[in-house]
Amino acid sequence: MTTSILTSFIIIISFIVKRIQADCQNNTLTETTFVYRRVCYFANWAAKRYDNISRLTPEDIDPFLCTHINFAFAKVLESLIIAPYEEDDLKGWTANSKGMYERILKLKETNPDLRVLLSVGGWTHASRGFNEVSKTAANIKNFVKNSVKFLRENKFDGLDLDWEYPGAKDQGAEPHSKTGYTKLVKKLSRVFKREAERTGQEKLLLTCATAAARHRIEAGYEVEEVCKYFDFVSVMTYDYHGSWDGKTGHNSPLYAMRNERKKFREWNINSSMLVWEELGCPKEKLNIGLSAYGRAFSLFGETGMSNGKPVTKKKSSIGIKASAAEAGKYTREAGVLAYYEICELLQNNPSNRVFWHQQMSVPYVSSKTLWIGFDNIRSVTLKMQFLKEHGYGGVIIWSLDLDDKTGTVCNEGPFPIFNAAKRELLILPDHLINKDKKCSDDNITITIEHLHSKMTKIKQSKNSK
Ligand SMILES: *[C@@H]1O[C@H](CO)[C@@H](O)[C@H](O)[C@H]1NC(C)=O
Ligand SMILES: *[C@@H]1O[C@H](CO)[C@@H](O)[C@H](O)[C@H]1NC(C)=O
Ligand SMILES: *[C@@H]1O[C@H](CO)[C@@H](O)[C@H](O)[C@H]1NC(C)=O
Ligand SMILES: *[C@@H]1O[C@H](CO)[C@@H](O)[C@H](O)[C@H]1NC(C)=O
Repeated sequence: MTTSILTSFIIIISFIVKRIQADCQNNTLTETTFVYRRVCYFANWAAKRYDNISRLTPEDIDPFLCTHINFAFAKVLESLIIAPYEEDDLKGWTANSKGMYERILKLKETNPDLRVLLSVGGWTHASRGFNEVSKTAANIKNFVKNSVKFLRENKFDGLDLDWEYPGAKDQGAEPHSKTGYTKLVKKLSRVFKREAERTGQEKLLLTCATAAARHRIEAGYEVEEVCKYFDFVSVMTYDYHGSWDGKTGHNSPLYAMRNERKKFREWNINSSMLVWEELGCPKEKLNIGLSAYGRAFSLFGETGMSNGKPVTKKKSSIGIKASAAEAGKYTREAGVLAYYEICELLQNNPSNRVFWHQQMSVPYVSSKTLWIGFDNIRSVTLKMQFLKEHGYGGVIIWSLDLDDKTGTVCNEGPFPIFNAAKRELLILPDHLINKDKKCSDDNITITIEHLHSKMTKIKQSKNSK
């Protein structure tokens, strides 16, 4: 085959595939390139770790792993502007090296359908800047204008608001923050739309990461209203339990346990998503949150004596007195372990066994001294099936660096957690596949993937000749 025939062949294939795809998925999709969103967080500090295991640079990321990448984080300043957190976000350390923004955005050269958003805020950032921004109409207007400029100058595809959280006094939010947040979101949405119309560029996406617990949702969000303006809303359905509880509990249960105390009955994915829905957020705009880490506890001598009686250890060891487990060798934060660190712990110590919690539908590690609530391929797959059954729009995963990027630690292939979510989300439920028989027979629903692999195959066969 000559190069020009090959090129026309590729163009024809991509044209046909796009056509069939558009025809088949017309009524169910707003974007033609995928059905369920896979929104992945990139943590800029992870690129600065020293060892090869925990460091994750933009170049380590498979450009087809996610449909969206959120760059975490940028700051919101009281001067009503967005500013980079790290010195090398905007430009590299030397004259010729690229900044992190540019390096992440470079993934789009390989996957033009990928969208990269800038995420502002985060737990540690809390309400700083956001209070000021949402205080008056003039401040909002100024911030929105500055944001559009910053996003466009740096070639981002959108803004992910990660204010944790409006309405949260314990996180420094001021009383005006709930209504101020709505006004901010409304203005951002309007201006993004108008800017796109004026410039002819693709509209900047407007998204957010939000709370999962009912008391936080009710305190911080006018749900029905804000959901109108966001392109999608990502619920951080993890961190339900951790060392701050002073006792063992799971980081991210899919369902409640039977006989759970009233306060905790809603602290699971199934319930949190329903709260958002019941308060008026359209299902298809909602993303479920997954974590590629677990929360780990160090157990006290719970099998010893208490008041002269032997304490019988509960089978699951859930709800027993515990403190934050020793920090992981790589991530170095007490009480938190990356997925690959959990794999390593399991391999190195046979007394660390994995159990499955039937009611919560998640795995946990339990030994005499250690308890970890985490997610693995099985639980991620079940959570993605849940997502599809309930008609939610997608998933967010925190964060790329916490998965086993090369697959060499866990021996489950590269990015096992992210890929488990991807694999399950590419299998479409029947009701999303067009009734038109022609479409479902073609397996055309994963066209972008197929197209990519077809093109790679053609290129390979060309090279081998
Ligand atoms: C989807 O269907 C509508 C009406 O059935 C049609 O007008 C529109 O062009 C279709 N869109 C695509 C992408 O095929
Ligand atoms: C770790 O990284 C260093 C420097 O980037 C490299 O020289 C070394 O071969 C890497 N080691 C492994 C085990 O990948
Ligand atoms: C999910 O939540 C709903 C509403 O609270 C409840 O009726 C249902 O039983 C829950 N599902 C499971 C499997 O716990
Ligand atoms: C369609 O999908 C099925 C099941 O995944 C697979 O066995 C079959 O080879 C696929 N057909 C084509 C044409 O890709």
